[in-house]
Amino acid sequence: MIPTLEWTPEGVRFIDQTKLPLDEIYVTATSYQDVATIIRDMIVRGAPAIGVSAAMGIALGVDRSSATTLSQLTAEVEEMSKVLAATRPTAVNLFWAIDRMNEKYKELLTTPGVTIPEIKAALITEAQAMYDADIEACKQMGAHGATLLPEEGTVLTHCNAGALATCGYGTALGVIRAAVERGHKIDVLADETRPYLQGARLTAWELMQDNIPTTVLCDNMAGTLMRQGRIQAVIVGADRIAANGDVANKVGTYSVAVLAKEHGIPFYVAAPWSTIDLATAHGDQIPIEQRSPVEVTHSNGKQMTPHGVGIENPAFDVTPAKYVTAIITERGVLQAPYKVSMKEMLDAESAV
Ligand code: MRU
Repeated sequence: MIPTLEWTPEGVRFIDQTKLPLDEIYVTATSYQDVATIIRDMIVRGAPAIGVSAAMGIALGVDRSSATTLSQLTAEVEEMSKVLAATRPTAVNLFWAIDRMNEKYKELLTTPGVTIPEIKAALITEAQAMYDADIEACKQMGAHGATLLPEEGTVLTHCNAGALATCGYGTALGVIRAAVERGHKIDVLADETRPYLQGARLTAWELMQDNIPTTVLCDNMAGTLMRQGRIQAVIVGADRIAANGDVANKVGTYSVAVLAKEHGIPFYVAAPWSTIDLATAHGDQIPIEQRSPVEVTHSNGKQMTPHGVGIENPAFDVTPAKYVTAIITERGVLQAPYKVSMKEMLDAESAV
């Protein structure tokens, strides 16, 4: 499995996604500040992966702390949480993971006589459990979603919602992997995903490792291929799903979803439950990260646009729920109306 990130005795080790596909280089964070920089600079990216990275960042920060009292340690955990939360605003998994680590920390503080070494060990165990659960969730999404994909046909994806965007296996690409493992003959079309090229660089690279036939296309070609009947399904990941089923994902997803509806092609979203933000009523409330204009003006270090031209670079867009055929989660497949199906799924689980 592709080692997106892992806890090591030296620190948290990441494959440097800015260098793929040409160079497979690893970097090791030895402080929580390193982890924050690694998330902000997109050395690690993808909603589930940045969530678990932040959890490991807190575990690392606590592990390396020289605090001698619990009140010192508490102040440090607050600072770590603030720094990690300020890295990227859209993927809710980041905040979910930081909250979960803080809850665990508070729970540990209530244990009579708890020592700092015990807290250090317990937080590493918690981050590692989140890592393992993320891979398991991807496998579950695969099991639930595989039958939705054609027995034979071409599936379009946008951005990278694969092993590299998670702790392994992937969400959207996990569903594709699961379908292939079950004997479906699937060709993947990977949108290049301007400006950061997650599709051209990362999706293509990781699917080729698995020998899944993959073709890269420029983002503006999808409509033509759909009109020619060359795409049977679309599947993408998500950075945040609002309570009504509106989906924030990599910019360009919205255009693909509208095109899919126009051509009668199913449009699936695969995401773990930690991507669902029930506190956000609808997609317009989701904060959209604006990234540096340089990502648009420059390609491979070379300026492509005239000096001084205005630049837009929102990293994500929102696809209204009406374009989403189904949302595949580790708990099962949600269908519209999403507010109702999300509640039913949670209620059914708590009744067991
Ligand atoms: O800016 P990125 O590369 O972090 O954006 C990633 C995406 O938009 C993914 O599609 C999303 O996080 C789902 S990953 C399983």
